[in-house]
Amino acid sequence: MTERSSSIQGLHHITLCTATAQGDVDFFVKVMGQRFIKQTLFYDGKIPIYHLYFSDADGTPGTVMTTFPMRRTGLVGRKGSGQFTAIAYSVPPGSLDFWREHFRRNGIAIAGESERFGEKYLRVAHAGIDFEVVEDPTDQRKPWKSDYVPERYAVRGFHNWTVTVREQEDMDTFMHEAWSFRRTLTDGLFTRYEVAEGGGGKRIDILHAPDLRQGTWTVAEGIVHHGAFDVPDYDTQMRVKLETEGMGFTDFSDRKNRGYFESTYVRTPGGAMFEATKSLGFKMDETEEELGTDLKISPQFDVSHEELKAFMQKEDPIHL
Ligand SMILES: [Fe+2]
Repeated sequence: MTERSSSIQGLHHITLCTATAQGDVDFFVKVMGQRFIKQTLFYDGKIPIYHLYFSDADGTPGTVMTTFPMRRTGLVGRKGSGQFTAIAYSVPPGSLDFWREHFRRNGIAIAGESERFGEKYLRVAHAGIDFEVVEDPTDQRKPWKSDYVPERYAVRGFHNWTVTVREQEDMDTFMHEAWSFRRTLTDGLFTRYEVAEGGGGKRIDILHAPDLRQGTWTVAEGIVHHGAFDVPDYDTQMRVKLETEGMGFTDFSDRKNRGYFESTYVRTPGGAMFEATKSLGFKMDETEEELGTDLKISPQFDVSHEELKAFMQKEDPIHL
């Protein structure tokens, strides 16, 4: 066996099933201080559901939050094991006092404050999903210049995502052998994994919950649908797929074009769905200034742009 020349680089985007489009714009732009970088639609299925993207200035992998606002479908999910269960943003040292007050001013209750791996976590919920902010003195990533959060306190991108699993051992094997992560820390029921050079945007925390009922896998309000990981090129994406299939995970999907990246998906032994993603960029159909300002129609809908835009604006209005 030859050494792999490249593999998974880190986190890319995470996709949540939330409530309403306006609720997401208000939370991710006005509270978390992210850039609303793209508005399109869910590329699968026949019901038009928004797919909204929030990130740093450029949609850099490891900063990209994406949502399917599901309220209007009436589908409600069940949280549990076999899912991503928390999304942690990294903020500069000394900024938790700002964030505590900022959440309060925006009417968002602090759901908890805790410590793990020697780091302090502030936890809030949006659309039934758990979010954390954690100070990371090592994170040098450049934040988006938000109108809502001063730069010195701004989120730098994802610190880590938590995956909750019933079977720790099988997930451990997958993280090492299929996904090239290494185990770096343990703290109670949490195990931290890092990839490449580690640090901001390159961490996954696995929470072992052997008695927790499995959560919903379908798209439904209040759950995380999947987490996507960055690969540098198509050759690496294909090699990750073929090698993972060689371990017995033959349900690794073919490559799917998602407009702004190309995706392959696999259901991990812990239950959460992972995606290996090759970026194509967000500026292919909008200029730097235009990013996120107009609805981009996904390819399965054969109706005019104006017609679908008017329909979505009526069904799930967005006011910027
Ligand atoms: Fe995805």
